[in-house]
Amino acid sequence: MGIKSDNKIIIAHRGSPRLAPELTLPSFRIACELGAPFIETDIQRTNDGILVNIHDDNLHRTTNVRDIYPGKIDEPVSSFKYKDLLKLDAGGWFNEKNSRIAKSEYYGLNIPTLEELIDMVYKDGSTGLIIELKKPEKYPGIEDDIVNILVKKGFIDRKTRLSPKGQRDRKKRDFLENRIILSSFNNLSLFKLKNIQPELRRIVIGNSKTINKSGGFDKFIKMAQELESDISLAANIASPWKINMAKKAGLKVFIYTINNFFLMKLFFGFKVNGIFTDRYDEMLRPFD
Ligand code: G3P
Ligand code: CA
Repeated sequence: MGIKSDNKIIIAHRGSPRLAPELTLPSFRIACELGAPFIETDIQRTNDGILVNIHDDNLHRTTNVRDIYPGKIDEPVSSFKYKDLLKLDAGGWFNEKNSRIAKSEYYGLNIPTLEELIDMVYKDGSTGLIIELKKPEKYPGIEDDIVNILVKKGFIDRKTRLSPKGQRDRKKRDFLENRIILSSFNNLSLFKLKNIQPELRRIVIGNSKTINKSGGFDKFIKMAQELESDISLAANIASPWKINMAKKAGLKVFIYTINNFFLMKLFFGFKVNGIFTDRYDEMLRPFD
C-alpha cells in the first residue's frame, strides 16, 4: 500500500514555506499552482477537537501569540480553543522575516483547519495530500477524527467506512485512493489507521531516534511491511544501502527534507521514489 506511481515524486513540504507562511492556505495554493503532485501538512488538534495545520508544539514561531496571549507563549496548540486560534495572525511573522517577498495578503492569515485544506486540494483537481499526524500520542482518537472528516466530506462511506468502491462519485474515490496519504513518526498511530481504514495509503517516517526505537533498520523495515506502508527517511540517515534494502523489501522510499537541487539529483540517482522539499519551485529546474 503506497504511492502507485514509479515516477520521481517531488512533494511540497509544508506547501511553499520559502515563498509564503508555512502551512497556510496561500503556501499550499502556490504549490498546487506550480503543479506539485503532492503537498505535505502537519496536523494537530485544538482543545475543542478541531484539526489544524501546524507543525510546532506551540505557536510562537509561526504566529503572533506573544502579542495576543502573552501568558501562553509556550503553551501547546492542544491547550487552545479553535476560536482563540482565529485571533492569531499566522502570516505576519513571515513578512517580517522575509521583507523582500512579503505580501500584504499574508497579514492576518488564519491557521487553516484540515477541512479547509482538504476542500482546497480537492477543488484543485490534481494535487494529492500527505497528512502527517504530528505527535498523535498527545491526541487520543485523532485517527478516528481524520477518518470522520473524510466521511463527512463524502470520501468514505459512513456505514462501512470502506473505500467507496460502490459509490458513484469516481472523482472522490480516486482522490481517496490515490491522492490522500497518512503519515507519522508514530507507527502505532498508523497501525490504528490501518485498522480503521485499511485502504488509506500510509508512509511511516524514520529518523535515527525512531529507527533506534524500532530496534534497528531491519526491524523498521519489517514493521513498515507489516503496516503495508511506504517509508520516508531523514536525509542524514538515508545511505544507499538502507535505500536498497528498503526497496528490495518492496517499499517505496521517500527522503526529507531536500532543499538543494543537486542533492535531489543525488537521491534520485540512488533510486528513491520521491523527496520532500521546502523549495518545490527550485526543484523544477530541468532535471537532466
Ligand atoms: O514527512 C517528513 C517530515 O515532514 C517530517 O519532519 O519535522 O518537517 O514534520 P517535519
Ligand atoms: Ca511534516
